Amino acid sequence: MIIEAHDVGVTIGRRRIVHGESVRCEPGEMTALTGPSGSGKTSLLHVLGLLLPVTSGAVTADGTVVSGGSPRARRAFWRDHAAFVLQDYGIIDDESVAFNVALRRTRRADPRVRAALEHVGLQGREAEPAGHLSGGEKQRLALARAVHRDARALFVDEPTASLDAANRALVIGLLDDFARRGATVVVATHDEDMTAACAHRHPMNAPTITIH
Ligand SMILES: Nc1ncnc2c1ncn2[C@@H]1O[C@H](COP(=O)(O)OP(=O)(O)OP(=O)(O)O)[C@@H](O)[C@H]1O
Ligand SMILES: [Mg+2]
Repeated sequence: MIIEAHDVGVTIGRRRIVHGESVRCEPGEMTALTGPSGSGKTSLLHVLGLLLPVTSGAVTADGTVVSGGSPRARRAFWRDHAAFVLQDYGIIDDESVAFNVALRRTRRADPRVRAALEHVGLQGREAEPAGHLSGGEKQRLALARAVHRDARALFVDEPTASLDAANRALVIGLLDDFARRGATVVVATHDEDMTAACAHRHPMNAPTITIH
């Protein structure tokens, strides 16, 4: 699925937070949204994933305008195509690891849940409450959910922030696998290793702010 922003602007209240961004995210490729803190990476990622409405410009998926659509069209996009790994990982602490992968109760040894957990190195942890996992493990659990969904478009916010070098490499490898299998992977990041692994890099257009 080709996901594109066409001269997208976002204004919240009186503040312009996304400044005329145009980016084309291709299937089979990782696209990095890069730029300093506050430059609007997360906001543009949310715009591309239809989580945040545009004020100007448009978002298209395979050439069809999807921004400004009905709530029903957005829900269909999320249900059928998209997976998100956002900054808080969206983990439900009180539920089991397995529930967090499938987002519903599954049979005790559901092979698809097991395969997704194996993919991220969390095999055998199905029954544990997700709240017991470390930050890096929760990050990988969120990726297992995306693996389980087999999404065509994956939107990821700072996937390597707060991970050690070994886990950073693991997460970068997992995202790369997604892209190799044909998914469109969009990553907001300020990590140089993550950016280097992306075939396409999009620097944000934010105005330069000098801090005195
Ligand atoms: N809901 C909101 N209401 C008002 N301002 C917002 C809102 N969301 C984001 N902003 C502002 O928009 C700007 C861009 O924020 P954004 O989170 O997209 O930046 P970022 O590039 O992801 O930064 P970081 O690297 O720190 O994560 C910031 O100045 C932020 O305060
Ligand atoms: Mg951000």
